[in-house]
Amino acid sequence: GKVVLAFSGGLDTSVCIPLLREHYGFDEIITVAVDVGQPEAEVVRATEKGRMLADNHYTIDVKEKFVDEYIFPSIKANGSYEGYPMGTALARPLIAEEIVKIAKKEGASKIAHGCTGKGNDQLRFDFIFRSGGYDIVAPMREMNLTREWEICYAQEHNVPVSVGKENPYSVDENCWSRSIEGGRLEDPAFHPPEEIYAWTVSPKDAPDAMEEIRIRFEKGVPVALNGKNLSGLALIRELNQIAGQNGVGRNDMIEDRILGLKAREVYEHPAATVLLAAHRDLEHLVLTRSELAFKQIVDAKWSELAYMGLVHEPLFYALNAFIDTTQERVNGTVDVGLYKGSVKVLGRSSENALYSDDLVSFDSTTIDQNHAVGFSNYFGLQARLLKNLKKR
Ligand code: ARG
Ligand code: SIN
Repeated sequence: GKVVLAFSGGLDTSVCIPLLREHYGFDEIITVAVDVGQPEAEVVRATEKGRMLADNHYTIDVKEKFVDEYIFPSIKANGSYEGYPMGTALARPLIAEEIVKIAKKEGASKIAHGCTGKGNDQLRFDFIFRSGGYDIVAPMREMNLTREWEICYAQEHNVPVSVGKENPYSVDENCWSRSIEGGRLEDPAFHPPEEIYAWTVSPKDAPDAMEEIRIRFEKGVPVALNGKNLSGLALIRELNQIAGQNGVGRNDMIEDRILGLKAREVYEHPAATVLLAAHRDLEHLVLTRSELAFKQIVDAKWSELAYMGLVHEPLFYALNAFIDTTQERVNGTVDVGLYKGSVKVLGRSSENALYSDDLVSFDSTTIDQNHAVGFSNYFGLQARLLKNLKKR
């Protein structure tokens, strides 16, 4: 039989190749690496390893698509799960869709992945693979493998591995976030050592002066940085640099996985931290109080579904439709200050602002303040009546 393997070139997916041959008896293994903005070296490593170890290999570049079709909707939805901007979660459905396409083209009978039976990724992948009509092979979870066993098995099968005593962490990276887990980080009390970080400097080593940047949004998505129009991908990459240099975007959290397991996760997401803060601020200038209150509920539900990778859930489409309607007016500019790990909105403006300084200013007389007296007479009426009843 023929099997397509979702391939990153890391330990788990590399070990899958000999396992699919020896243990599962597949005679043709096709590896697919999907480029969602992980470091160039990782894409190269996956391509080289796939070509060396599998019968056929594909590397597919979907970086721009990932930004336009997954990250942008997430910005519009203020996408965040327990404070995590969901980089890994957002990328999984797209990676899986691309793998289904190759499986169809190659006429494969099954799709394989290297996820464990403890995490979220297995569920996000499985959902898309099953939706595409494929049965799944998941050696790590089916064989209950541990990383220690995998390292030995890899060495016996001449599979090159970079995980070892020097690099004991499991890292998942794309242009929206970098996640680090495993190794000593599995002790929630353990303080993350500085060397696990790759995108951010320690806030204490960041420059002593605040860096000010300006972001322009159109229909809820960022289109320009410091007056320069950029593609989504270019803007996110540049902002990752700028904010990372200022120590912005580190996140060390206890996360509730879909299965219910609590996990200790460390993330870096400088651009996401800045863009989500700026976008949320701009919404407060532009949307009505009712829209904001209702959208908070919609955003939370959107984030929950996105975290689970349930992107074909009909409710997800419906929530996106609501969100897109609100974002029609979310145009404007937000000035942000980056200083030693913190992000502060310094100012904002929009052609659609529901703000009138003529009305609200202490110094203007456009509003006749006496009109508020009538409103005030009825304000809190029922609570006041009850208070008086109790007095009697
Ligand atoms: N806990 C995060 C999530 O579920 C990150 C998972 C990282 N995945 C990985 N294969 N290292 O989105
Ligand atoms: C895994 O367990 O395969 C990675 C972590 C996750 O999916 O949450």
